[in-house]
Amino acid sequence: MVNSSVKVANAPGWAKQAHTKNARLIQWVEEVAKLTKPDSIHWCDGSQEEYDALCKLLVASGTFTQLNPQKRPNSFLARSNPSDVARVEDRTFICSKTKDEAGPTNNWASPDDMRVTLNGLYDGCMRGRTMYVIPFSMGPLGSNIAQIGIELTDSAYVAVHMRIMTRMGQKVLDVLGDSDFVPAIHSVGAPLEAGQADVAWPCNDTKYIVHFPDTREIWSYGSGYGGNALLGKKCFALRIASVMARDEGWLAEHMLILGVENPQGEKYYVSAAFPSACGKTNFAMVIPPESYKGWKVTTIGDDIAWIKPDAHGNLRAINPENGLFGVAPGTNEKSNPNALKTLTANCIFTNVALTDDGDVWWEGMTDEVPAHLIDWTGQEWAPGCGRLAAHPNSRFTAPASQVPSIDPAWEDPAGVPIAAFIFGGRVSKAFPLVFQAHNWTHGVYLAATMGSEATAAAVGQAAMRRDPFAMLPFCGYNMADYWSHWLKIGRNLSHAPMIFRVNWFRKDANGKFIWPGFGENVRALEWIIDRVKGRADAVESPYGWMPRYQDLNWTGLDFPKEKYDAIARVDRAIGLVEAEEQAAYFAKFHSRLPREMELHRQMLELRLERSPEVWEPRD
Ligand code: OXD
Ligand code: MN
Repeated sequence: MVNSSVKVANAPGWAKQAHTKNARLIQWVEEVAKLTKPDSIHWCDGSQEEYDALCKLLVASGTFTQLNPQKRPNSFLARSNPSDVARVEDRTFICSKTKDEAGPTNNWASPDDMRVTLNGLYDGCMRGRTMYVIPFSMGPLGSNIAQIGIELTDSAYVAVHMRIMTRMGQKVLDVLGDSDFVPAIHSVGAPLEAGQADVAWPCNDTKYIVHFPDTREIWSYGSGYGGNALLGKKCFALRIASVMARDEGWLAEHMLILGVENPQGEKYYVSAAFPSACGKTNFAMVIPPESYKGWKVTTIGDDIAWIKPDAHGNLRAINPENGLFGVAPGTNEKSNPNALKTLTANCIFTNVALTDDGDVWWEGMTDEVPAHLIDWTGQEWAPGCGRLAAHPNSRFTAPASQVPSIDPAWEDPAGVPIAAFIFGGRVSKAFPLVFQAHNWTHGVYLAATMGSEATAAAVGQAAMRRDPFAMLPFCGYNMADYWSHWLKIGRNLSHAPMIFRVNWFRKDANGKFIWPGFGENVRALEWIIDRVKGRADAVESPYGWMPRYQDLNWTGLDFPKEKYDAIARVDRAIGLVEAEEQAAYFAKFHSRLPREMELHRQMLELRLERSPEVWEPRD
């Protein structure tokens, strides 16, 4: 190992030189530094000392408030600029050669034009700041499913997040050696002129989150928040990785991975995709109901899965992340006790409220609302003041190793074998609690058409916001080609996982959820696992294979058959409207739509036409 030729100017005491011989990396860092003109460059080594020093720096600059060490040791609160609170999908671009390659669900811009725009924006954009060089691995170091990226950022907030969310630092450079990496450049877009004081949350009203799929590059400008700035997550692990996966024959998915073990010690792993706000993190850490003695659910990941066929025709999955970046509001003892236990130390909270004793609070955290808080904007807050204490997209950042239900194999470089895929949406009427696809192709169709209801339309049914595979904002190429890729993967597997759809959100005539959800979702999981084993019965519904009342385990839950019928029945008229809407949706993909998709839509229509007005799962 030798030091690179990059000079560290005005560096704090803990700044270190690069320990790499990777010529492409050294040259790229020099080129970006020449363009962005930072005052200094810091190569992150990933050590605890470095993390602590950066947190100290963030406290001194006003970005971080240290939380009460008795209540939340080694934890911090950040408040963002109120204009920089979420991913900016309308500013997210896929710059493939042609618009058609990006497809109708992505924003496309010409790569040549975009490079001109970005070169202008990045010229001098890091003036007065330190540029951090962050080597990171998505996935356990050395796993053949993992990939390495390097993020250059002018945000210390991003640097500390990357240490939690990824494997980061010198150990990554050691594994990288001379190999290739995904280059990711991030700037908050707020250069400091000589003598200009910094603000607690620098950002820019102009924002660009740009992906060049052909050169596998990421350029992010103007935001310091979440997926806009932590470029290993949505930008690399989903948008760029989905392109890599297409080219190399694997899957990069917006999915949790969990393990489920029955009292006989049989263990299966499943991977599940749900659109935002459908309780994905809660399901990844679900605790089985009390009556499920001897059952265990373990967590591999809560957001992203990288899945590769192995030599035996099975799919094996890793969680490419090292931490959780979860939505805080609504996380409580009932919805997710494991998450609360995860958050007891070594965490960063962004845009939640601060309590008088130096701890954090968010809406739904406790039944009792504190009498006084400092809200996410830094203002005094009291119940009834008319404002939310925490921003609805406020977040916790926590090491995955702290999750009480973390699976012993969560860092296994070989990944875990996937027995089933589960796809779910939030639908109040059309879809039943759980059903199984007829086969892989039908499963791809079910995942391609999934979605959640948008706010209720003025008249009639609530409109569906399609979110195919929960990948709508995350697929780095044409969505129709992505469906073709899934079909191709399935054709080549000798042990293709079974595919299921679930819907926890069916409502009664009064608009109340019928299914209790949370831990009770394990009842659907048990049926899924038993179907995989070939031991559970089912009947054929217009949608797919569905359990009858007696096919589910009701021990310890008072859920009479009438209630089950209310979440299992298929209403022909509602189903036919859904099938018709799918036709309009498919039309957007023109000739790139795999023919199997339209075929399965027509088969659904046919089955519905032949079914009774209200179909219920009976013998
Ligand atoms: C996330 C998201 O933050 O899906 O995970 O938006
Ligand atoms: Mn997500």
